[in-house]
Amino acid sequence: MSSKILIIGACGQIGSELTYKLREIHGNDNVIASDISYTNLEIVNSGIFEIVDAQDYSSIHICVEKHKIDTIYLMAAMLSATGEKYPMKAWDLNMSSLFNVLNLAKAKFISKVFWPSSIAVFGPTTPKEQTSQHTIMEPTTVYGITKQVGERWCEYYFDKYGVDVRSIRYPGIVSWKTMPGGGTTDYAVEIYHKAITDGKYESFLSEDTELPMMFMDDAITATIQIMDAPANQLSIRSSYNLAAMSFTPKDIAGEIQKHIRDFIITYNPDFRQQIADSWPKSIDDSYARKDWNWNHQFDLEKMTNEMILQLKKKYAPAEN
Ligand code: SER
Repeated sequence: MSSKILIIGACGQIGSELTYKLREIHGNDNVIASDISYTNLEIVNSGIFEIVDAQDYSSIHICVEKHKIDTIYLMAAMLSATGEKYPMKAWDLNMSSLFNVLNLAKAKFISKVFWPSSIAVFGPTTPKEQTSQHTIMEPTTVYGITKQVGERWCEYYFDKYGVDVRSIRYPGIVSWKTMPGGGTTDYAVEIYHKAITDGKYESFLSEDTELPMMFMDDAITATIQIMDAPANQLSIRSSYNLAAMSFTPKDIAGEIQKHIRDFIITYNPDFRQQIADSWPKSIDDSYARKDWNWNHQFDLEKMTNEMILQLKKKYAPAEN
């Protein structure tokens, strides 16, 4: 029997690509995409799509029953920058959606859960270089607080109720299909779009702000790998550190200039600088590499080649 999958937040940056990939693997009919509204028409029109409100237990439950769902990927969340503008909304959305899904698993309506955490669980007191799995965690953003608390609850539900929940602390994710929204690492996506369309970009982070990042293809591979891993190989039931590369706005601009020689970057840090400054520069992900054979494929150079190639196609004037 093939297991049926529900993706909540399928219109978003990661949710959309996860939907495409999981459909490739499990077949269109076994992967149900859902979101709070029809914000991504490509996803809405690409297979079965349901309107689901992640904050409403029965909204998810009805969808689970209707489609006989076995596994949920909960990709709906308010990210770091937007969360600072709407702290209570971020808290409510990020926590209630997680409890709804964990409680569905506790009640045995579903048997497996993926929930993303983030480098935002770390804070200014965390060691910044090669940040280890178990370290000081005093996040200063509402988003980071929800991720840290969420991790504790995931582990709790695993320990006390046997809920099979699996999680990764994503670094900033760079991709070309769906724009990210409301994150501090979003500059690393916007910069490529602006390089192609305008030949210049004003960064909201300073030139030497180094952050852990990852290309989307690697993020999707990792997500599928951890979900496919035998349960007894997973030694971490809070959330796994995950890494691929680290770079600054200056590094990425230099890499873009290898393709677009006249590309100009300027710097005008805003409130997101403080958020970025509170996060690690690089991550030690040896548990993921050891427990479920994680291995990244993309570095800054390879990612830039792919981003420029794909975005040039995307913005090319249609030929008549
Ligand atoms: N990419 C996220 C953000 O910037 C971090 O997980 O908020």
